Amino acid sequence: MTTMFWILWFFIAFVVVLVAFTLRKESEDMPSRDILRAVESTGKMGVAERSFLWVFSWLDTRFRLQDYWNMSKGAYYNMHRQMPLTHAEKYKLRIIWYWYPLYCLGGISFLSFIILVITGTVLGIYYVPGGEGDPSPAYASMQYIMTELPFGYILRAVHHWATHFMVASVFLHMCRVYFTGAYRNPRELNWLIGVALMFLTIFFGYSGYLLPWDSLAYGAAVIGINMANSSPLIGKFAATALFSGTSLTPRTVTRMYFIHVFILPVIVTLLIIIHLFIVWVQGIAEPH
Ligand code: HEM
Repeated sequence: MTTMFWILWFFIAFVVVLVAFTLRKESEDMPSRDILRAVESTGKMGVAERSFLWVFSWLDTRFRLQDYWNMSKGAYYNMHRQMPLTHAEKYKLRIIWYWYPLYCLGGISFLSFIILVITGTVLGIYYVPGGEGDPSPAYASMQYIMTELPFGYILRAVHHWATHFMVASVFLHMCRVYFTGAYRNPRELNWLIGVALMFLTIFFGYSGYLLPWDSLAYGAAVIGINMANSSPLIGKFAATALFSGTSLTPRTVTRMYFIHVFILPVIVTLLIIIHLFIVWVQGIAEPH
């Protein structure tokens, strides 16, 4: 034990000396930059300022911090030069058009989605997607989250309320787009992507509603599978694809889980990226 102790200390001391020696050598070799010269030449600075500048210039000479910072600043300004001006900026309006707050609804939908992804990821660590037995693993894991997991009930509540916010704000965002006539040429494609997002958002909510596999979820699943089964032509296929069969089984909850945590997030994320990219390229429609 004591041998190990001394070997360890000897090793640490060796590394410290090696690093110190390398730094000393490097500081001789490296060309000193303006900032380092400034630090060395001035005597007026306090210890904190001198140390900060010294550390900064040490990092800067090695990792070109200032160069990268200036480069990203350039990229930022270039991007923003292409960003469309808002209606108020373009016409130098002194008053705020009183419908403008409704233009935040798309952003609120996006924010809700981000919150849902974060809380859903944490819930997914504890949730077990199994419908077999009574209580099923799905139900038992929900009980665990609600009663035993620290902050579990808050996590679930935030996920639940963010869903409500998202469904409401997506719908109201659609109304805003409709009533301001923003769906017209040249924004037809974004309207269609929006329609897909609206349906996917509702289906997102529905698939999550089934996951606790309690009697509420079971009731909703009965309604859903009956709707799928009774669709003309594709009824059986739709029920099998969505509910893992034409009647409810324990596998239904596993299928809904996969749809909820993989298929829908991937599609919705891609569509939101395209949707926002198109808004960025085309700019926001002016009120008619
Ligand atoms: C996940 C759902 C959605 C998200 C995150 C989202 C996000 C956004 C954002 C941030 C904007 C910028 C302007 C604003 O916020 O009002 C926007 C614009 C737009 N959205 Fe959505 N949206 C969603 C769903 C929809 C739906 C359901 C529709 C219609 C069916 C739609 C159609 C449009 C159109 C046409 C624009 C351009 C509006 C304009 O230029 O004034 N979006 N969206």
